[in-house]
Amino acid sequence: MKKTLLYLLLLFPIALLAQEINYDETKVPSYTLPNPLIMEDGTKVTSKQEWIEKRRPEILDLFETHVYGKAPASPKDIQFEVLSENRYAINNMATRKEVAVYLSEDKTHKMTILIYLPNKRTGAVPLFFGLNFKGNHTICDDAEITESITRMKPRDGGDEIRPHAFKRGAASSRWPVEMLIAKGYGLATVYRGDIDPDYDDGFQNGIHPLFYNEGQTKPRPDEWGTLAAWAWGLSRAMDYFETDEDIDAGKVAVFGHSRHGKTALWTAAVDTRFAMAVSNDSGCGGAALSRRRYGETVGKINSLFPHWFCENFKQYSNNEDALPVDQHQLVALIAPRPVYIASAIDDRWADPKGEFLSGVHATAVYELLEVAGLPVEEMPAVDQPEMRGNIGYHVRSGDHDINSYDWEQFIKFADIHLKDKY
Ligand code: GCU
Repeated sequence: MKKTLLYLLLLFPIALLAQEINYDETKVPSYTLPNPLIMEDGTKVTSKQEWIEKRRPEILDLFETHVYGKAPASPKDIQFEVLSENRYAINNMATRKEVAVYLSEDKTHKMTILIYLPNKRTGAVPLFFGLNFKGNHTICDDAEITESITRMKPRDGGDEIRPHAFKRGAASSRWPVEMLIAKGYGLATVYRGDIDPDYDDGFQNGIHPLFYNEGQTKPRPDEWGTLAAWAWGLSRAMDYFETDEDIDAGKVAVFGHSRHGKTALWTAAVDTRFAMAVSNDSGCGGAALSRRRYGETVGKINSLFPHWFCENFKQYSNNEDALPVDQHQLVALIAPRPVYIASAIDDRWADPKGEFLSGVHATAVYELLEVAGLPVEEMPAVDQPEMRGNIGYHVRSGDHDINSYDWEQFIKFADIHLKDKY
C-alpha cells in the first residue's frame, strides 16, 4: 500500500510535467499577438521614421526589461591582441587568426575569437560569426587551434574547468569551414564559456560581476541574463572586426544553433552593426512564438535554464498572454536587415511552425521599411527553402541539429544579401 502511494506521488509530478508540453496543433490556444506597428499607447505606426524613432526603441526596451535584460555599454578600455596568425591553414586555403578580447582593464577576463578567412580574396571579406558550445578547438580538426578552457557545471565535487573535456574537431559536422572558405566567406567563433559558462551559478563566474555596482551581487530583475551576456560578448567581437582590415564589418552575419540561435537574434536586434542574422532551431525565446505554447514553453525554459533570461521573464511562466511582446517582434527589430529562420521538422520542442510564424508576423515591419519580409503565409514544404524576401525560412527534414543542408541555405541567402556588396 505504502509503496503504491509512493509510486503515485512520484508519478504525479512527472504526469504534470508531461501534460504541460503540447505537441498537438489542435490544442494550441487561441491568442492575440501584440501588433508591432501599434505603439503601447495605441497610436498606429505609419511611417519609417515613426518605426525607427519611436516604435523600434519601445519594443527593444520591452524585450530588455521583460525578456533578456539590459546589458552595459561597451567598456572604454577594451583591448585586442592577435595571439596567432597562420596563412597556411586548411590546406593553404585560409588564414587562421586567434584574437584575444580583454573584457576588463586588468586583463583577467578575456575571450578568444577564432577566425578563418579565405586566402582567395581581393579585399575585406563577409563573415559568418557565432558562438560554439564546447570550445574553439572542437569546431575543426585543426591541430593548431588553441584549446579553449572548457567551463562546465561542477558535478560530483568535480571542477568547473575540465581540461580536454571535448576532442579537437568534435563539433566539426556543424562547422563547414572549408565550404565557407570556398564560397568566399570568413568564419569566426567564440566559445560561449569565455563570456559566461552555461549554468546557473547566481551570475558569479562570467562577465556579470565585472559590471556590478558596489554591493551588487547579482543582476537586477531587468538586467542581463546569460543570453544577453553572450550577445554582449558577440558585440565586443564586432568591436574587433571593425578594426580588422581583412574583415568587412559591414557584412557580418551573426548565426547560432538553438540557444545560440536565440542569442544570434537578440544580438542582431541590439546591435545594428550586424548585417544579417541566422537562427537555427532557436525555439522558445528565439524565433518561436511564446503564445503558441507548443513544445517548450516560457515556464519550461525558465525552470530548466533559470539563468538564460532576466529575472522579470519568470513572471511570464505559464502566463504568456501577459507578456508585453512576442518573438515576431524580435524578428521585426532586425528589419530591414535580412534574417534567416531555420527549423527542423522533427524538432517539435522548438516549434517549427511557431518559428515560421514569427517571420510571417514580422513581415509588416519589413514592408513598412520597403523591403519584402516573408512572402508566404503557409509554411513551405519540408526541404523547400523560401528566400525571396529579406526573411528567409526553411524547415528541413530531420531533428534538432545544424548540418550541411542548413549551411547551404544560409550561404545562398547570404549570397543574395551580402555578396552583391563586395
Ligand atoms: C534545450 C532547451 C532549448 C535550447 C536547446 C539547445 O533543449 O530547452 O531551449 O534551444 O536546449 O540549446 O540545444
